[in-house]
Amino acid sequence: MKLPNYKDAKNREKVDINYLDTFHKYEAIYQGKKYFLRTYGCQMNVHDSEQIKAYMQMLGMEMVDKLEDADVVILNTCAIRENAHDKVFGYLGRCKHLKKAKPDLIIAITGCMAGQEDVIADIQKNHQYIDIIVGTNNLYDLPKLLIEKKSKQNIEVYSNSDIVPENITYERDSKISAWVNIMYGCDKFCTYCIVPFTRGRERSRKKEEILKECQCLVDNNYQEITLLGQNVNAYGKDLNLGYDFADLLEGVAKLGIPRLRFVTSHPWNFTDKMIDIIAKYDNIMPYIHLPLQSGSDRILKKMNRRYTAEEYKTLYDKMKKLIPGVAITTDIIVGFPGETEEDFQLTLDMVNYCKYDGAFTFIYSERKGTASALMKDDVSQKEKESRLHRLNEVVNEYSKESNMRLLDQVVEVLVIGKSTKDDDKVYGYTQTMKLVNIDASEDTIGKLVNVKITDAKSFSLDGILVN
Ligand code: SAH
Ligand code: SF4
Ligand code: F3S
Repeated sequence: MKLPNYKDAKNREKVDINYLDTFHKYEAIYQGKKYFLRTYGCQMNVHDSEQIKAYMQMLGMEMVDKLEDADVVILNTCAIRENAHDKVFGYLGRCKHLKKAKPDLIIAITGCMAGQEDVIADIQKNHQYIDIIVGTNNLYDLPKLLIEKKSKQNIEVYSNSDIVPENITYERDSKISAWVNIMYGCDKFCTYCIVPFTRGRERSRKKEEILKECQCLVDNNYQEITLLGQNVNAYGKDLNLGYDFADLLEGVAKLGIPRLRFVTSHPWNFTDKMIDIIAKYDNIMPYIHLPLQSGSDRILKKMNRRYTAEEYKTLYDKMKKLIPGVAITTDIIVGFPGETEEDFQLTLDMVNYCKYDGAFTFIYSERKGTASALMKDDVSQKEKESRLHRLNEVVNEYSKESNMRLLDQVVEVLVIGKSTKDDDKVYGYTQTMKLVNIDASEDTIGKLVNVKITDAKSFSLDGILVN
């Protein structure tokens, strides 16, 4: 048993990275059994779930979409805000209930919640029906713990790790678009954020391994690769090989994947070299997610974001100038401790300046263990809600405007699948990651097609095929 520990998690003393070949063929000791997997949170977790699926398959299990049919339940959890936490615990209530009727049911928790010291202490005390807890840094231990099947609650969480798992097996959800981890963890310690605690130190994968994985995706006819990291700009810094994110981006682009993108980039340390590479290669999508968080220098400083509003604007202007047709989306938090109406207005000013293609907006949520949890949260709930509402109105206006600009234009769309609402339609994404519903047959799925935009709404576009 190894419990999560925030003191370990905070430790960023330099260590030597150890690469671990995680490939292992497991015996199918769960042959005929069924598993149910629920994924919360960001793309990182979505991709980790593809790893979990591969493990379950190797153990002989088949996936089911009804909780009640499962012999093993895995909740791949998120800890980013209190409502993510509440959702998981709400669902755990159902799992606990099911276990009463099915005592052999195995319940496992993976994901960021596994790394929360206080949450795991609570689970040990009040939720003994949970059998297995595995941290994000050692997800490769999940099959081992399932094979061991201890009678006691089995917790294995490495809050900080010097290990970079390589040669991971994935059962990818899509045959068209693939996620590729380029690094793990985060060292930025934005004061509100739990991620550096739940995902540990920044560790880069070997460039050869990343390129090998991407080449394999190209060979398998994948159309799109998304490079993943909490802050991809930091790629390679820990390796000291003089090979940075821009080099990697160029290396992957040269493999000839039709579409390449990345998430997420911190505005701090977004280099000119990165902008040049994005502009230079046609297959690097002109789409950048550039989290702002706040437009007020005072709040940015309290958030430890390492840039000022002015520096953000300069970067934004550079991107718009040098990358033709670039779409920029963002994340914004309202109601950070000490945020005044004036600070909030500065955030609105920035939104009015950047006219984002889209934005994810959040009410600040206090996370135990983070630096901002020690700051006095003096903004009332009512005020936070009002700010979120006012912000969303402006944000939605601009995303509609940016969609309207595409009306009557012909754009390239990567078709992903059948529309869930309309049998005669398919859906896909533009190079700028805008969702388009298209009047077209299923044969277009997996292909890049030209589409004329016939209607624009706030969050999607409609279109028809053209030659
Ligand atoms: N690594 C990514 C962010 C991951 S979390 C990045 O830096 O861009 C995604 C978003 O959740 C963050 O950008 C932030 O806007 C929001 N977020 C993180 N912690 C939060 C908290 N404690 N309360 C509210 N929103 C938060
Ligand atoms: Fe969290 Fe900041 Fe790291 Fe993003 S960069 S994961 S917001 S600490
Ligand atoms: Fe992602 Fe949630 Fe963890 S947003 S990194 S799964 S806390």
